[in-house]
Amino acid sequence: MSNIKEIVFATNNLHKLTEIKEIVGDKYKILSLKDIGCNEDIPETASTLEGNAEIKARYIKDNYGYDCFADDTGLEVEALNGEPGVYSARYAGEVHDSLANMRLLLENMKDKENRKARFRTVIALIQGDKLTLVEGIVNGEITCHPQGDNGFGYDPVFRPEDKQVTFAQMDSVEKNSISHRGRATEKLISILNN
Ligand code: IMP
Repeated sequence: MSNIKEIVFATNNLHKLTEIKEIVGDKYKILSLKDIGCNEDIPETASTLEGNAEIKARYIKDNYGYDCFADDTGLEVEALNGEPGVYSARYAGEVHDSLANMRLLLENMKDKENRKARFRTVIALIQGDKLTLVEGIVNGEITCHPQGDNGFGYDPVFRPEDKQVTFAQMDSVEKNSISHRGRATEKLISILNN
């Protein structure tokens, strides 16, 4: 009999799925939303990253019965009182336009001397009736101009602490080794593997 457990990652982002499948190995079979026939847009209505990650994981557990994990990420800028935070994807509007989001951020940071910021990822894991939250953080600062072509989202304007280059000037291996998502994923994997 097979000992492989099934768990849903509440995403259809292929990049995230591939990454996590590589790290988890063959102890778990990771299923996507598509794999379980979930085509709904799960509403992210909470005002915190924790809340949204939990909403997504609970939705799957309650409606499909699978153990599940879900993530939510935000860029938190100190001089903007933590904005764009939970609204990072739709900072400049509901269309989720990364370029417009980045432009608005640079505009709002125009006169700010304090450029400290952090990316924070929260992962909510539901196993049976147990909820576990883990987070991963990378501190850094917002540059004055976009630099680099790699990555996505705010990568061209985020320079991690102790680095001379932005996330968009790094290759994915270097970024993942220090990133918010990489750090949160490491914690998730150690829970799943224990
Ligand atoms: P999500 O929760 O992973 O979908 O992330 C929400 C939003 O945060 C994205 O749409 C991006 O704008 C931003 N974001 C998340 N992770 C990153 C990253 O690694 N680099 C740059 N922007 C990111």
